[in-house]
Amino acid sequence: DDNDPMSYGMQFHGRSMSVSTMGEHMINLPSTNDPFLGETAVPLEKQKRLTLFHGLSLVIGLQIGSGIFASPNQINSNAGSVGMSLIIWVAGGLLAWTGASSYAELGSAIPLNGSSQAYLNQIYGSLPSFLFSWTALTILKPGSTAIIAIIFSEYFCRALGSSPVFTNYWFQKFIAIIGLAIVVAINCFSTRLGARAGNFFLVIKIGVLLAITIIGIVASFHFHDTNALTGADSRGLFADSSKSIGNYAIALYAGLWAYDGWDNVNYVSAEMKNPRRDLPRVIHIAMPVVIVAYFLANIAYYAVMSEEEIEKTTSVAITFATKTMGPVAGIIFAILISLSCIGALNATIFSSARLVYSSAEEGFLPSMFCKLHPVRSTPVNALLLQSAIACIFILVGEFHSLLTFYGFAGYSFYFLTVSGVIVLRIREPDLDRPYKTYISTPILFCCVALFLVSRTLFEKPIESLFVALFIASGLPIYIWRFGLLSQASVPSFDDILRKLKIRR
Ligand code: ARG
Repeated sequence: DDNDPMSYGMQFHGRSMSVSTMGEHMINLPSTNDPFLGETAVPLEKQKRLTLFHGLSLVIGLQIGSGIFASPNQINSNAGSVGMSLIIWVAGGLLAWTGASSYAELGSAIPLNGSSQAYLNQIYGSLPSFLFSWTALTILKPGSTAIIAIIFSEYFCRALGSSPVFTNYWFQKFIAIIGLAIVVAINCFSTRLGARAGNFFLVIKIGVLLAITIIGIVASFHFHDTNALTGADSRGLFADSSKSIGNYAIALYAGLWAYDGWDNVNYVSAEMKNPRRDLPRVIHIAMPVVIVAYFLANIAYYAVMSEEEIEKTTSVAITFATKTMGPVAGIIFAILISLSCIGALNATIFSSARLVYSSAEEGFLPSMFCKLHPVRSTPVNALLLQSAIACIFILVGEFHSLLTFYGFAGYSFYFLTVSGVIVLRIREPDLDRPYKTYISTPILFCCVALFLVSRTLFEKPIESLFVALFIASGLPIYIWRFGLLSQASVPSFDDILRKLKIRR
């Protein structure tokens, strides 16, 4: 497959053909699609290899991780009724979509790697950009990686059996680290292999969700009298809906975790063949697919189980499979879900390494982190840094505090970045925007993000203060590296486009 965009073989082939004049060398020439052989490292942003499909697999592959198989219980118990839970699932998806569309506008106008790091740099200057990188590199990225790795290991160990070894706390952490190590090794070995693995896991995830939907429809007849939709005990679609805003906020956070990852392709936009065209396409294909898939999966859960059953289980998909097809199916689903988590790990590792890399290019990190492996052209140092921090989180991290931190700090930066869409519209009305979203999109996102962030602030003031202090602790490092007044210089939009060889 010479045309495979991820193939390093072609260039190598061309180069060695010109230097190998001896017959024996000719015989040993690698085939043109051998991806793993020599090539001098080409800077990441010059490796324009990612296509629309790679973009989709990065976004959908991270979004469909653990959430849809695990969080329905939290959403149902907080929203109180089937109808309200379904509304939360759709609302969460639409909210993620408004965020993603806003990021698509920024990413197609500023097609640099690094997502918020690049956009904040252009919009608000290098200090906010630095503080984002600081928080994302130390906590957000490795923290979410650790959470996914831990969930992977829980499902994997559950499939292994219920012997005390497999339920042991440290054994599970050990398996989480092994899972992470495998994914990192693949990505250090070859970008192409990482992307291929991503595609493979994507197929599994979509297959599992499809299977859940079909099984749910078929089995609904059998459970007609006991399920949450038509069962005799069914309370009706909206009876018992919660009356507290706080409960809805918690439910929404749980839903947003399941959709999180919508910004994943923005970290690699410079590596896309045609970011200005494909970035918005990725978002507008991925988001409706995921929203519909999640909606159908939830309908399937409700068509088989009662609300009490859903609220009681922390892994609804396994309970679902066991109830419809028996314990063996439950074990198979546990394995499939653990693979889904590995796929999400793969997608998040891929993009985190790009953030490290572009932060190092910006001078935020030592330059060793924007070095590529000389033979494999993969960002090895960046990958290792991210996974080392993630391992620390796996070992010492406490799941719930990690999630609170993730929600609060993550949404603060989403808010700041999306507000930049509005700022740029005013400040740079003539900027070339290959994709322009409705202005109501970023406004809506900002309002909800502000609501979520301020609620955490009032509800958990101590934790929030701690998060704010942590973000601010990047300030002395910034001053040490750049000085207080001399903000690191930010290139103009024209410079960026010229550098990327994009004609306006
Ligand atoms: N949506 C994913 C899941 O349900 C979690 C994504 C975490 N986000 C991230 N940027 N790593 O498991």
